[in-house]
Amino acid sequence: MDVSDLIGVEECESLPVKQVQDLYRRYVSRSQVNLMTTFGFGRELVERAEGAHIWTRDGRRILDVTGGVGVLNHGHNHPRIVAARRRFAERGRMEVHKAFFSPYVAALSHNVAALLPGDLNISYFPNSGAEANEGAVKMAYKYHGGRRGTILRADISFHGKTLGAGSLTGSSENSFRFPGLPGIVVYPYGDVAAVGAPGGPAPPPPGGGPRQGATRRPVTPCSGAAGW
Ligand SMILES: Cc1ncc(COP(=O)(O)O)c(C=O)c1O
Repeated sequence: MDVSDLIGVEECESLPVKQVQDLYRRYVSRSQVNLMTTFGFGRELVERAEGAHIWTRDGRRILDVTGGVGVLNHGHNHPRIVAARRRFAERGRMEVHKAFFSPYVAALSHNVAALLPGDLNISYFPNSGAEANEGAVKMAYKYHGGRRGTILRADISFHGKTLGAGSLTGSSENSFRFPGLPGIVVYPYGDVAAVGAPGGPAPPPPGGGPRQGATRRPVTPCSGAAGW
């Protein structure tokens, strides 16, 4: 392939929807295109997005009740966020560096500690929800000195798509059983009684296999189900 065959940003922004779908089919995921178009999505492209609204290229205005992806619930292109990003770039600020402290990290961790209850004195800013969840699991392992090995998760849940976080995810969409974290037991969502006596189900034996625990209702052992 010649470098001149690569698609630049300007060209990318004027690609017709059919070509975008075709590129998705060829280079991203054929099944994603099939799934989305079957349900009537992905048939038009977005021109711009602002606050709670999306404008399609063909001029329709749509109220976006999803409010952004996951926890990023600030709406689209929030003016204060856009202004801060623009200022940061215009002033030539640096993102992060291994050899320099970041005043932004310092201020953010201070603000998080000031806003949350308790006396928070460690902050960890991961790249993703999956990394945050795996960090929480690591913290729990470490807190218990590695002596506790059981992790409870609900039968319907989403915690991310990495091997670790994916194995904590319960979804019928997961069609392939990847290896996952050892010692995971599954309880029916919202059924606290199923978790059983204080302390929950007994830990799995060495090797991570399931063990019948002190649960009032059977919980299902799971060996990982990170799909897609
Ligand atoms: C509740 C929850 N946990 C974890 C995740 C995973 O986040 P990420 O895709 O950033 O890894 C998501 C993402 O939507 C989520 O909604």
